[in-house]
Amino acid sequence: MPVKGRIARISGPLVVAEGMRGAQMYEMVYVGEAGLIGEITRLSGDRAFIQVYESTSGLRPGEPVEGTGAPLSVELGPGLLGTIFDGVQRPLPVIADEVARRDPKRRMFIERGVRVPPLDRKKKFHFKPVRRAGERVEGGDVLGTVQETSLIEHRVMVPPGVRGTLKWIAPEGDYTIEDTIATVERDGREIEVKMVQRWPVRIPRPFKDKKDPSLPLITGIRIIDTFFPMAKGGTGAVPGGFGTGKTVTLHSLAQWSEARVVVYIGCGERGNEMTEVLERFPKYKDPWTGKPLMDRTILIANTSNMPVAAREASIYVGVTLAEYYRDMGYDVLLVADSTSRWAEALREIAGRLEEMPAEEGYPSYLASRLAEFYERAGRVTALGSPEREGSVTIVGAVSPPGGDFSEPVTSHTTRFIRVFWALDTKLAYSRHYPAINWLISYSAYVETVTEWWHRNVDKKWREYRDEAMGILLRENELQEIVRLVGTESLDEKDKLVLETARLLKDGFLKQNAFDPIDAFSTPQKQFALLRMIMDFHRKGEELISQGATVAEIRKALGRLYVEMVKAKFDIPNDQLERIEDLRRRVLEALERVRPVRAEAL
Ligand SMILES: Nc1ncnc2c1ncn2[C@@H]1O[C@H](COP(=O)(O)OP(=O)(O)O)[C@@H](O)[C@H]1O
Ligand SMILES: [Mg+2]
Repeated sequence: MPVKGRIARISGPLVVAEGMRGAQMYEMVYVGEAGLIGEITRLSGDRAFIQVYESTSGLRPGEPVEGTGAPLSVELGPGLLGTIFDGVQRPLPVIADEVARRDPKRRMFIERGVRVPPLDRKKKFHFKPVRRAGERVEGGDVLGTVQETSLIEHRVMVPPGVRGTLKWIAPEGDYTIEDTIATVERDGREIEVKMVQRWPVRIPRPFKDKKDPSLPLITGIRIIDTFFPMAKGGTGAVPGGFGTGKTVTLHSLAQWSEARVVVYIGCGERGNEMTEVLERFPKYKDPWTGKPLMDRTILIANTSNMPVAAREASIYVGVTLAEYYRDMGYDVLLVADSTSRWAEALREIAGRLEEMPAEEGYPSYLASRLAEFYERAGRVTALGSPEREGSVTIVGAVSPPGGDFSEPVTSHTTRFIRVFWALDTKLAYSRHYPAINWLISYSAYVETVTEWWHRNVDKKWREYRDEAMGILLRENELQEIVRLVGTESLDEKDKLVLETARLLKDGFLKQNAFDPIDAFSTPQKQFALLRMIMDFHRKGEELISQGATVAEIRKALGRLYVEMVKAKFDIPNDQLERIEDLRRRVLEALERVRPVRAEAL
């Protein structure tokens, strides 16, 4: 019997209920006459502390609180892709319709207490079985498939934990998600399997084993793929002050990266940013296939005007949906904008619970919550047969107040992620986008993805990449010297470093996310641009060691300099021979520099 209690106290998103003996930790409850969705986060005697995922205004002490006997869970099944959910997995367009039906004058996006199932109950999906009656099956086994969208074949799996003999499986045909599509018998008991399953959001979905991420997740963003690569199944953070480009970066990742499925969580950021996503994404095409981007995307919107407690739910809902598609054998990218807003929600609720705060008012469990979240990333072998691998890559934006990376959310996050794309206010001010600071950013996956680059792009990738990185680091040191004593004090080799670094910054690192040609660079284009610039550098070094000056080299280049800088805009991914041609012309022009050897003077 589900527990029934009464509201004793209301404090913002936190409700304390009495008469709740027997309730479970993290049990989902319905709060008040309106039946608001909440989750028990602490139990003490017969009192339950409940974080409520909907606005609590108007709620009164004495109103009922009803347990559900189950933890907060998500619905999994065909129909998730292309949908926009709120933080507790209510489909936003459907809710908007429901609210409008009740009262057409109200144009609110969400009404409290509206209970709409996450997935469409009436829609039929065409199911094709791949297993036969009489076979033994276990959790994770693929029973059949449904073409969920133009891009994704949904694999209908035996729920984890179920094992037995397949007694019956539905013939090919159209079914709703609540129709039984198989029965599994074990010890004389029959379990009905449907296309819809539920899973508690706080529990990671099981898998066979975890593998090291070794494949890059290509994003088309040059500074990322070439210098600070992400791996499929990896973890990354995008910290940056206001306006430095966190949202644009996550949009680009969601839009361009080579993931098969993308889960985008808008967590606690301003509504207009999310509106932009909601308006733009349905118009975009998947760059890898030309199909509608929404066919591979799930959006979860919990903006700053929505209840703070649901920020936490949105994170867990998102990662559980990501794991579900991973289990089917897909590479999934999850982006969360912003994890700082989730941390702020934790702080607010901890404050109302009068918990002892740790740094800057955040609860002491902030670090473990962040760790649990990022630990759900990974590349895994899924449960069941056929054997398949999938991955969840997690990238979280972090919004440190004042751009100060020493604050608790940023500093704890760095302990749990392997890639750090640090956005820099100065770069953003000077309109160097993406404003990823190459001096403090890092990726632990450079070594692991090298083999992929060598096999698929060019065996010299690592050599060129490291050399270019060296130039950028050296330039930073030289800039210090220049600031103190001016350029004239530098020798010609160092001047060349400044020249090449400038080419790297203008012609390679800067990338306009809104330019049709520049926004996305294939790995091959990235390498071609990099080689062109670095071959210029190598040739320049050679000439300088023979007595030439940087001034002479610049002069010999003439207009080719501008061509090199503009190649990223001018030359699309499918015309790379033009970059090669430019590289040849650059080297030929430099051949014409006739250095005078010092000893010949
Ligand atoms: N890669 C980029 N290319 C072009 N413009 C960018 C890029 N990154 C950021 N910007 C500019 O910076 C502005 C602020 O970026 P935004 O992502 O909204 O910042 P944040 O989310 O960090 O507050 C954008 O509106 C855009 O004009
Ligand atoms: Mg933003």
